[in-house]
Amino acid sequence: MNLRVRMFIPFCLLAGFTAAQDDAFNYDETKVVPYTLPDPLVMTNGTRVTSARDWKTKRRQEILRLFEREVYGKTPARPAAGWFHLNEVDTQALNGLATRRQLTIAFSGTLGGPMMDLLLYIPNGAKNPVPAFLGLNFSGNQSVHQDPRIPISQSWMRDSREFGIVNNRATEASRGVQSSRWPVEMILKRGYALATIYYGDIDPDFHDGFKNGVHPLFYKKGQTAPAADEWGSIGAWAWGLSSALSCLSKDKQIDGTRVAVIGHSRLGKAALWAGAQDERFALVISNNSGCGGAALSRRNFGETVKRINTSFPHWFCGNFKKYNDREASLPVDQHMLIALVAPRPVYVASAAEDLWADPRGEFLAAKHASPVYRLLGTDGLQAEEMPALDQSVQSRIGYHIRRGKHDVTELDWKHYLDFADRHMKQQKP
Ligand code: GCU
Repeated sequence: MNLRVRMFIPFCLLAGFTAAQDDAFNYDETKVVPYTLPDPLVMTNGTRVTSARDWKTKRRQEILRLFEREVYGKTPARPAAGWFHLNEVDTQALNGLATRRQLTIAFSGTLGGPMMDLLLYIPNGAKNPVPAFLGLNFSGNQSVHQDPRIPISQSWMRDSREFGIVNNRATEASRGVQSSRWPVEMILKRGYALATIYYGDIDPDFHDGFKNGVHPLFYKKGQTAPAADEWGSIGAWAWGLSSALSCLSKDKQIDGTRVAVIGHSRLGKAALWAGAQDERFALVISNNSGCGGAALSRRNFGETVKRINTSFPHWFCGNFKKYNDREASLPVDQHMLIALVAPRPVYVASAAEDLWADPRGEFLAAKHASPVYRLLGTDGLQAEEMPALDQSVQSRIGYHIRRGKHDVTELDWKHYLDFADRHMKQQKP
């Protein structure tokens, strides 16, 4: 491990940065029990994968099926653009910098069923369709910017005095409360559109036995909950992202072949799973996604499979609970999730004080996805060791570990925008 990072760990524990962490868990690198990762380039039957063709037609499919069956659950067929309604357009939003469009996407084809509201900013003045970033947000579309024209979300939300959420509903005080995570003007000025959706529109983030959200739309006759190998909430959020992509691809000002999916924390897990399944996403960004996201499950460092399945029983599929305290018997690990994105560019970002998410486990997963990238003729992650704090590795697999806590900051976005410029080339505006 990079020396600066190694020295940082005891300091941040002493400094009390462990709010989201639990002292019953391991944060000591010397106590990580040795483990063996499954080889992404060896089929379950032992056959070694030596050609891009065998990866694409055999091993990739096998790994995808394993993640479906054992980790996130099977997802219903990819959603079509569905039914959507354009609620608002303003060609002079943000002092003329952007065109703002707000749409409602109704999953069942009619108003009244589950629906999601999509907020879209497109930079003005581009001659050609622009690339875009698409990401779910935690506190409603109105939380990403002070823009007074964004309606306050009406959906259920977890109470938070800090974010202006009272009685499970967003209030006016929630406007712009997450804006530090969404540098909208910076993104627009770099030539990218930004699309975002409140994640709870797709499936509210509490365990109600899958009665609300999109799951019931797909129940077979008599079914009341997903089967053990069917999708949980992360699967639903990922599916919602694909649905949004279908919708964005119909917008003449957006280049649907250059849409990056991005997510933070639990939404980083969803972004990775969306990007792994849906090859239309041109680029995938995981920000501090941790356990069940970019971090290796086999490393006993920070959050564990048992802990995540206990605290959030609705996130993964029922089968994933078989691996509580039995990570070594998982047929996959999270480096293989990253490998499913290959050869498309993927970026994994950690934060030095976010030990709960196991920064080193995130780095190692990115590194161990590299052999698949190399088989497909790209460079993978061009770093043997974790880079210095705040420095970005911009190979086909990107990585940085930022100073500071579990969050999304302007520095993270600066690295993502540079990465997108490099790998999702912009046409001349
Ligand atoms: C919890 C959870 C993490 C998750 C995070 C978040 O800390 O244990 O797995 O990433 O919440 O989404 O904020």
